[in-house]
Formats: sequence, structure tokens, C-alpha cells
Amino acid sequence: MRTQVVKRGAEATITEGEWHGRSVMVKERIPKRYRIQSLDNMLRRTRTKREAVLMAEARGCGIPTPIIYDVDVVSSTIVMENIKGELAKDVLQTSRDRNAVARELGVLVGRLHANNIVHGDLTTSNMLIKAGHIYFIDFGLGERSQEPEKKGVDLHLLKEALDSAHSEFPELFEHVSEGYISEYDNGREILAIVEDIEKRGRYS
Ligand SMILES: Nc1ncnc2c1ncn2[C@@H]1O[C@H](COP(=O)(O)OP(=O)(O)OP(=O)(O)O)[C@@H](O)[C@H]1O
Ligand SMILES: [Mg+2]
Repeated sequence: MRTQVVKRGAEATITEGEWHGRSVMVKERIPKRYRIQSLDNMLRRTRTKREAVLMAEARGCGIPTPIIYDVDVVSSTIVMENIKGELAKDVLQTSRDRNAVARELGVLVGRLHANNIVHGDLTTSNMLIKAGHIYFIDFGLGERSQEPEKKGVDLHLLKEALDSAHSEFPELFEHVSEGYISEYDNGREILAIVEDIEKRGRYS
């Protein structure tokens, strides 16, 4: 396999390569020496498995995610489709259509939550845009949950990510919210929780 390291994150190494003639990204969770080894193995394996399962489930619910080609839990490696696009973070900064992108982002998060999938790390670095489609990646901290509070925390994180990475465009979350409630019947209830979380943060 021809490979090239694209990114060394805090948790994982992302390598671009070819797998059975397909252009892929290989995400390998690297051992952490400061963690007790048995705990580290368990964490890496759990997150790898969780990530692969949730990505495939989300895709099945109509949320674009990379196709998973292979998973090796022991080496904590996922081989997935290479989404040759741009980070949502860059698109939201530069595109004139940023409000429409934000709305579509809201629709997709609404679809995730309507299907009881909580992403766990909704930042605009964990979304890639290709040919007008927004792909979600990095589900290692995600879970299946029906709990409104968990969905609220998920959406609140996105709001904070937008406020910090795109502070010049304070209206983005309003467009996200609009998309979110258009897709998800309980959307307003979750948005009220987001406001509540913000208040708790302010007064505690
Ligand atoms: N399937 C993919 N196709 C294209 N690029 C990808 C893919 N998966 C990951 N990347 C790139 O690698 C980066 C890191 O991937 P990911 O977020 O999954 O790993 P991470 O180590 O958890 O990152 P971080 O610690 O920054 O959140 C992404 O921001 C993206 O640029
Ligand atoms: Mg990431």
C-alpha cells in the first residue's frame, strides 16, 4: 500500500493510501504511553469499534460519512473512503454560501439526532465538504442515545465551535438551528436545552 501521513492528531495518525485500487484514509489510534497499557488498549479498541459502527449507521440513515472498508480492532485501525474535499471550517470562512452550508449542517445534525446518534465532537474540523455534500467524520467519542440532554450537549458543542472558529459570522448557529428543527421534530426541545446549558455555564 502506498502511504503518506496526512495528519498526526492527539489520538490518531491519518495516512492517505491505496487499498485494492481505492483511494483511502487509514486512521490508526496510537498507543499512549502515559496510560496504563491495558486501559489504553481498551480505550483505543472501544473508540475504533464505536467510530466504525456509528459511521456506518449514520450513513445508513442518510448522513454522508466515508464508506468503511476495513476495521482492525486489535491494531485500532480503520480503512475508509478518502473524502477529497475541503474542511467545513475552511468553507464556512471563505464561501459566500456559508449560511446555506450552515443550514444543511443543521439538517444533518437533526437527522443524526432523530436517529438517536450523538456525535460527541461536532466541530467544523470533523466535517468535510465534497461536491456540495457534507460528510461527518471522527465519531470515536459518539454513542447511541435517546437522551435529550446528550443531544443538547452535542449541539451546544457545535455552537461553541462555530462561535470560536467563525466569530466573524455570529449568525451561523441561527441557520444551523433552522435546518435542525426543519429535520427533527423534537428539535425545539433540544435547542431549549442548548440555551439552558449556556445559562448554566454563565451563572456557575
Ligand atoms: N475519510 C477521510 N477523508 C479525508 N480526510 C480525512 C478523512 N478522515 C480524516 N481526514 C482528515 O484527517 C483529519 C483528522 O481526522 P479525525 O478528525 O478523524 O482524527 P483525530 O485524530 O480524531 O483528529 P482531531 O484530534 O483533530 O479531532 C480530519 O480533520 C481530516 O482533515
Ligand atoms: Mg477530528
